[in-house]
Amino acid sequence: MNLETLFHQRKDDPVWNTSYPLSPRDWETYRTDGPLSFEGERELSFYVHIPFCRRLCAFCEYARMLCPSADRQRAYVEAVGADIRAFLSRHGGFTLRGFDIGGGTPTALSAGNLSRLLDIYDETVDDLTLAPDFEPSIEGTFRTLTDEKLRRIAQSGIRRLSLGLQSASRAVLRRQNREDNPPGLMEEKLALARRAGITKVNLDLMYGLASQSAATIEADLAAVRRLSPEQVTLYELRPNRISAMCPFSKDELYHHYTLFFDGLSALGYKARFGQNTFTKDAADEGVSSYLRSRMLEGASYKGFGLSAQSMSRRGVSYNVGKVARPDSALLARSTFGEQDTYLLPPEELAAKYIAISAYHGSFSLEHLSRMLGRNAVRHYEAPTAFCLQNGLMEASGDRLCITREGFRHYGAVFSLFYAPS
Ligand SMILES: C[S@@+](CC[C@H](N)C(=O)[O-])C[C@H]1O[C@@H](n2cnc3c(N)ncnc32)[C@H](O)[C@@H]1O
Ligand code: SF4
Repeated sequence: MNLETLFHQRKDDPVWNTSYPLSPRDWETYRTDGPLSFEGERELSFYVHIPFCRRLCAFCEYARMLCPSADRQRAYVEAVGADIRAFLSRHGGFTLRGFDIGGGTPTALSAGNLSRLLDIYDETVDDLTLAPDFEPSIEGTFRTLTDEKLRRIAQSGIRRLSLGLQSASRAVLRRQNREDNPPGLMEEKLALARRAGITKVNLDLMYGLASQSAATIEADLAAVRRLSPEQVTLYELRPNRISAMCPFSKDELYHHYTLFFDGLSALGYKARFGQNTFTKDAADEGVSSYLRSRMLEGASYKGFGLSAQSMSRRGVSYNVGKVARPDSALLARSTFGEQDTYLLPPEELAAKYIAISAYHGSFSLEHLSRMLGRNAVRHYEAPTAFCLQNGLMEASGDRLCITREGFRHYGAVFSLFYAPS
């Protein structure tokens, strides 16, 4: 099928976004037994997944469940710790590029269990060589923050905290079964975080949620102005793994993104149009070092815990709990090792990098050449020519960047660079 037909077929279909592959079944022929090999990797990032939340938001695509008892939480944290130790006993000689603790809601753990998790974090990073730009990060929600938890996080040297707001509108949140934040609570928790030693706060916002409008976006921007986080990440609703449909057309989504982009730019946040990470300090790209290395360079990472994803130069794997909705029976396990491992050809690994780089609105042909083991400029000659001729992308140094026009259908544009399969 020619590129023009493909682009027109995909351009209004919401499944084309930053998710890749569209379905794990697409990789069935590459499935293999056993864990993913990380042999020879000189740099790696770690990700730990804590799947517990106090409420389950309807829009959420991640593996998560209601917070279990403190004993069950402890067993989970210990199992993750054992998985990390087992990995380190098999692999060494690499530099740790990043370490993100995400979820779910890691800060929903009890103070004692969060502290135990951070002990495991301390033991891990103490034994490894850290990259010069190593910047660990932890996710949380405002309501689950306490002075004790924040101080323990900072004590481990984690200074970046990523907090979800999604929307400042109570009506929007209510439709998503999401807890809202009473007046003054966010300011109070942020002040606690700053006093505890957190120096970089990221705020997650979303668009594409039912009932969002220019007026609710105005309220979101007012919250950003009041809270003044160092970074804002703006997610477009991905409907791939949830049953709900996005209630907006591509034109409406584009309009909502533009309102955010203009408002955040006026508040001093930097981003290229089409990027979803906004930052006051352009040098950090608005993300932790784990995501920076994944998004900009296609670097390798190892995930621990339920459903976590890993990628090496050989393939991608998913831990137990990725496919089915997680339930408490899964928590009885003493390990959350890889359930699905795919040994992938270079074109598929390159496509996985291209999909995540859509967050940044650009990808590097130099890194793609490394991943492919051949010249990426020649390999992607046809989609590059199509995108440049149609004003969908533009070249900047070794990167291809989405244009304002291309961003209307960014998922379809990036998909033209995926593997033919
Ligand atoms: C692991 S989640 C949430 C962290 C934290 N539990 C919270 O709710 O703030 C990280 C971010 O992913 C985003 N997200 C979750 N589901 C999404 C979806 N279906 N599409 C796009 N973004 C999504 C939300 O912005 C969320 O803050
Ligand atoms: S958005 Fe956050 S709080 Fe809501 S279900 Fe997902 S991980 Fe949990």
